[in-house]
Formats: sequence, structure tokens, C-alpha cells
Amino acid sequence: MSERHFVFIEGSSRPNGNSAILARRAEQHLPDGASSEWLRLADLPLPDFDADAASAPIFPDGNEGALLAATLRATDLVIVSPLYWYSVSAPVKRYLDHWDGWLHIPGLRFRRTMAGRTLWAISAGYTDDAGKADGLATSLRLTAEYLGMAWGGLLYGNGDQPGDVRQDHTAMRRAEDFLSPAAVPALRAG
Ligand SMILES: Cc1cc2nc3c(=O)[nH]c(=O)nc-3n(C[C@H](O)[C@H](O)[C@H](O)COP(=O)(O)O)c2cc1C
Repeated sequence: MSERHFVFIEGSSRPNGNSAILARRAEQHLPDGASSEWLRLADLPLPDFDADAASAPIFPDGNEGALLAATLRATDLVIVSPLYWYSVSAPVKRYLDHWDGWLHIPGLRFRRTMAGRTLWAISAGYTDDAGKADGLATSLRLTAEYLGMAWGGLLYGNGDQPGDVRQDHTAMRRAEDFLSPAAVPALRAG
């Protein structure tokens, strides 16, 4: 896989929310030659993950199949989530829970396939203390580690009412080089 392909998985409960605004800005500044796609979890709702059903796994169809296929296309997977109770939103958590089923699909080798790809996070919350998003960053970083993925880091913006994040000029500026080749993921905080 030579060209980079960024897959944005967006899990806000409202369209064009603050986390999406920040992520759209980052998407406008991808590395040269990179492509992207955007999936809104509200458009592709998943049931709660059922560990028993996953004991006889098959390649899923429907929304789950679409999300799995998109995930497999990603050289770079960008989780776009509002900060909810210091962590990701429920739709994002549910999407990640389904990874456990995907790890058990015979022949898919989900872990081996995702290894070496990069997981990124973009989030917004009402607090201007980015440290309050450490829980979100840590859970995603550890998830990446578990899959053998690289961790790109968290881009956090401050905003509560829709559009507020546009006033967080520091975050909006950081968005412009967050996913770009000049960035050095290993040096990022979080
Ligand atoms: C259920 C819920 C939990 C929230 N928890 C937090 C939180 O822990 N920290 C925070 O700063 N903001 C929290 N917020 C505020 C949202 O993160 C904020 O409104 C953000 O802009 C939403 O992002 P969105 O516009 O992308 O949906 C919470 C909001 C809701 C509805």
C-alpha cells in the first residue's frame, strides 16, 4: 500500500459539530497525494457488540460490513469524537467494540492487517484544559498499541455550542499540520 488513505470515523451526535469542524480542517491539509473518506456513525448505526454472536464470526454485511471495509482501506484511521465524560462518544466506543469481533473473523487477520497503520484522534469538548482529554487519548493510544498500529496523537479543540471551536484559533491552526508529513507523530503529546 503506497498511497496514504485517511478514513475519518466520526461519532458526534450532531452533524457538523465541533469535533467534525476541527477534523474537516485537518482533512483539508492531508499529505500530498493522500486520499480520504468520511463515515458518520450516525448514518451507519451499529448494534451493541454481542460477544456470544461473535463466537461464530463471518464477514459482516450491512453497516458493520461497510465500517469494516472502510477500516481495512485506511492507512490512516482518524477517530473524530466529541469528548463525552472524558472519553469517546458511545457510537465510537461501539464501533471500537466491534473490532473485537473482527479480530476473530477467520482468515481476515485484522490485527496483522492493521499493524503498521496509524490511528489518530480529533476531539472537541467544553473544557479549555486539554489535559481533561487524556483519558480519550490514552484509551485510543493503548488500542492502537494492541493492534500494533502507530499512534498519531490527539488534536483537541475547545468548544461547546455548535461552531464554537472555530474560535479556538490555536487548535484550528494545529489542524492544518496535524495530519501532514511535516508532523512527527512520535513527538506528539498524548
Ligand atoms: C453526554 C455529554 C458528555 C460530555 N462530557 C464532556 C466532558 O467530559 N468534557 C468536556 O469538556 N465536555 C464534555 N461535553 C461537552 C461536549 O464535548 C461539547 O459540547 C463538544 O463541543 C461536543 O462536540 P461535537 O460538537 O463534535 O458533538 C459533554 C457533552 C455531552 C452531551
